[in-house]
Amino acid sequence: MSMLDTFADLKRLVRGPGIEPGHRRARVVAVAARKGGVGKTTTTVSLGTALSVLSRQRVLLVDMDAQGHVAQSLSRDELHRGGETLGALLLGKNRDLQEIAAPTAIDGLWTVASDPSLNETETMLSARIGKELCLRQALKLARTHYDVILIDCPPNLGTLTVSSLVAADQVLVPCDLSTLGLDGVDALLETVETIRETLNPSLSVLGLLRTRVDRRNQTMNQTIEESLKARYGHLLLDTVVGISSAIPKAQLGGRPVQLHDAESRGAKDYAALGAEVSRRLGLRV
Ligand SMILES: Nc1ncnc2c1ncn2[C@@H]1O[C@H](COP(=O)(O)OP(=O)(O)OP(=O)(O)O)[C@@H](O)[C@H]1O
Ligand SMILES: [Mg+2]
Repeated sequence: MSMLDTFADLKRLVRGPGIEPGHRRARVVAVAARKGGVGKTTTTVSLGTALSVLSRQRVLLVDMDAQGHVAQSLSRDELHRGGETLGALLLGKNRDLQEIAAPTAIDGLWTVASDPSLNETETMLSARIGKELCLRQALKLARTHYDVILIDCPPNLGTLTVSSLVAADQVLVPCDLSTLGLDGVDALLETVETIRETLNPSLSVLGLLRTRVDRRNQTMNQTIEESLKARYGHLLLDTVVGISSAIPKAQLGGRPVQLHDAESRGAKDYAALGAEVSRRLGLRV
């Protein structure tokens, strides 16, 4: 055995398995909204599934929300790998999320599960200098193993969301069409602007995604559509996700909607979103 082999083995021992650099350069997209229940987790899981199944991308989902809904949506309690938690990695030095990334039942789709102690992690991080960089640093090696990394953010603009925006290249903003939902969008876009001016100048908005749209309510939709176009114009994605009863059913069953019912409205809308996002990110599909 050469000295080089020994050195590589030593490094692996110190860093844990599967942590050698890969050959990819992931685009990192944070799925964020200040408001709760607008479809962040549904979008993270369903878009990730569309990108891996239809666009053949290698995708990592990172759950930055202590509620742990990403893992629940994939019905996997055993998504932790390596015995460590996401919180411990974010608080640690020179740690990488790839250490705990675990495969899902879907080919090409991996995930880093959250844990209930993430809220405490957030409190512990708050006293630290450079806390907003924790996720960016912990994704350095992971970025080389995937084509796309999607981050599911909690429904607030706290340290975990800010860290996600600092780690991201782009942000995807789901919004439902209620006025309250739109107020949240303005607050988020202001935060994005501040982060662009300070910690992450290359952050941009991938788009606003209209979710849970009731297609039967034409008059209401038209009024809101017009004000949305006047307010956000080019930021609006073409894809609109309609209300689909298959989505909550799929979540209850612990499966992405595409696997629950491929013919459902939800599956079709998220397939369209996958195609639009692939185009916007310039992915080779
Ligand atoms: N297009 C849709 N049609 C019908 N129901 C939906 C749709 N999108 C999401 N839902 C349902 O709405 C609820 C909230 O969705 P989801 O968990 O994705 O939102 P969230 O923004 O992640 O919420 P939180 O802020 O709590 O994390 C879930 O019960 C989900 O099943
Ligand atoms: Mg959620």
